[in-house]
Amino acid sequence: MPDPCYITTPIYYVNDRPHIGHCYTTTLADVAARAHRLLGRDVYFLTGTDEHADKVVAAAHERNMTPQQWADQCSGEFRKAFARLDLAPDVFYRTSDPHHKRLAADSIRTLRDRGDVYLGDYVGWYDVSQDEYLTETTAKESSFNSPVTGKPLEKRTEKNYFFRLTKYADALQRHIQANPSFILPEARRNEVLGRLKTGLQDVPVSRAIRPTDPDWGDWGVAMPDDPAHRVYVWIEALCNYLTAIDRDDPGPGAGLDAGSTAAGHSNRGDLRRYWPATLHLMAKDILWFHAVVWPAMLMALGRALPGTVYAHAYYVRDGRKMSKSLGNFIEIDLLNRYCDKFSPDAVRWYFATQGPQGATDADFSHSHFVEMYNADLANGIGNCASRVGNMVAKYFEGKLPDSGGQHTWRAQTPEGERVFDWPRITAEAVGTFRAAIAAVDLSAALRAGLSIVGQVDQFINVTRTFSLAKEITPDTPDKKALLGTILYQCAEAVRIASLLLYPACPSKMASLWRTWNCAPLRDPSDINSDFIAPLDALAQWAGPYGLAGGQAVSKGDILFMRADPAEAV
Ligand code: MSP
Repeated sequence: MPDPCYITTPIYYVNDRPHIGHCYTTTLADVAARAHRLLGRDVYFLTGTDEHADKVVAAAHERNMTPQQWADQCSGEFRKAFARLDLAPDVFYRTSDPHHKRLAADSIRTLRDRGDVYLGDYVGWYDVSQDEYLTETTAKESSFNSPVTGKPLEKRTEKNYFFRLTKYADALQRHIQANPSFILPEARRNEVLGRLKTGLQDVPVSRAIRPTDPDWGDWGVAMPDDPAHRVYVWIEALCNYLTAIDRDDPGPGAGLDAGSTAAGHSNRGDLRRYWPATLHLMAKDILWFHAVVWPAMLMALGRALPGTVYAHAYYVRDGRKMSKSLGNFIEIDLLNRYCDKFSPDAVRWYFATQGPQGATDADFSHSHFVEMYNADLANGIGNCASRVGNMVAKYFEGKLPDSGGQHTWRAQTPEGERVFDWPRITAEAVGTFRAAIAAVDLSAALRAGLSIVGQVDQFINVTRTFSLAKEITPDTPDKKALLGTILYQCAEAVRIASLLLYPACPSKMASLWRTWNCAPLRDPSDINSDFIAPLDALAQWAGPYGLAGGQAVSKGDILFMRADPAEAV
């Protein structure tokens, strides 16, 4: 049986319009999901929306809509944004899904029955003029006066339910220490360990409903057996990772009344096999909830902990954080224009190879985008595939020549003699890809594919393929045979490279596969289709899925047109 693999993104607040940050994390998850699927794993990929924040009810009231109507509309925007980038989650999950609400409440009940959730006193700073509790930090920053009206804040005590996070602090610390890849990247892991050492506090898991609150109806999740409280939105949202898969697959679009849909893949049967999650992806802003609060809740629930909690850095704008108040977001409309001009695959590639995947923030800059697009895609895989396809078309009537049985070549390069051992070069790239995916280094995995392309280009240059082609006459059958053998190596290497590039560029690689008649997909016209075999078999040099002499390899369209950096989007 293939190995289950569960990959998640945060579920996004519906009160924001989707922007580059949401698209970035979800693209990384999609690339990881495709890579694991290619490696032969049984993947379930979740994204979705977090719909029970206070602001949603307020925003709906303002618009004379029900919270459900407002959430449907906003959630739809996320779905649209993700579809434009060819992101294909298996489920777009929404916390207004009745199944989620029921199971999230059950989890809180279990925690309370086990004594891990208790009713205690929440002491906080209350801004009477604004009807709002403020955190200690915010209160301090404004000298214990309302940041809005300047009136003095009141210290208030409120009954609240708490989760005994403190009880799990030691076990959690041990788990993080014993499992170096539980929190990645390493810098983030060290931060969490450092903060754990300074001590923990129990965390509130409910909000008392105040008389001044708007009527929520049955929106949100009521505290089991105590409807005067609502489950705190963060706690309920974290539960989504479990509630989504504690069930049988309801199938595409079925049974998920609130509009959650299973997309892409066929009915997956009992989804419970996907726990524990393989990879929770997010940015550093919400790592604490995922790396500390959530694992402690899982321990209390008696469930296994996720394999890796990976917190990437931020996309920033000119070195500054993107925020509503600065109004400096890269909006979805701009991203869509990049998709229109350069293709969704180009945006996916840029995200996956140049984004803030590690611990350092990254800027989204137009000139850098075009530079990398030209270097890696237009002049990289695009140009290489078209050179090979064109020569096969021109000199071999579109029929791939025979491999000639020679797969290892010695050639003089400006740096000295170089051996091109194609089975080894490609097998090593596959090994690098596999290891990088396991280490959640998506950029390194994709670069392994690109490194094959670079070597093919080098091979074409050192074997003087173009001059050789021009020297062919009817009297030089040896030259033609040599050219054929060289071209076979190039084509087979590009085919293997294309497998490794597929997770970022599924649409362009599928198009190449169709023109070269080597699609490894069950349905060559569907980029979300399952693979016919795992990568090890697919990438075997001249193996059962390899290119065969005599097979049709057509020229095909240009995959990535060269771009002019001076041209705006
Ligand atoms: N609803 C919560 C998550 C609950 S998960 C159980 C939430 N939602 S959010 O809409 O604010 O999304 C935060 C996430 O969006 C970040 O963790 C990250 O994945 C993505 N990003 C938002 N802004 C970002 C950048 N500027 N850069 C990169 N990703 C960022 O928090």
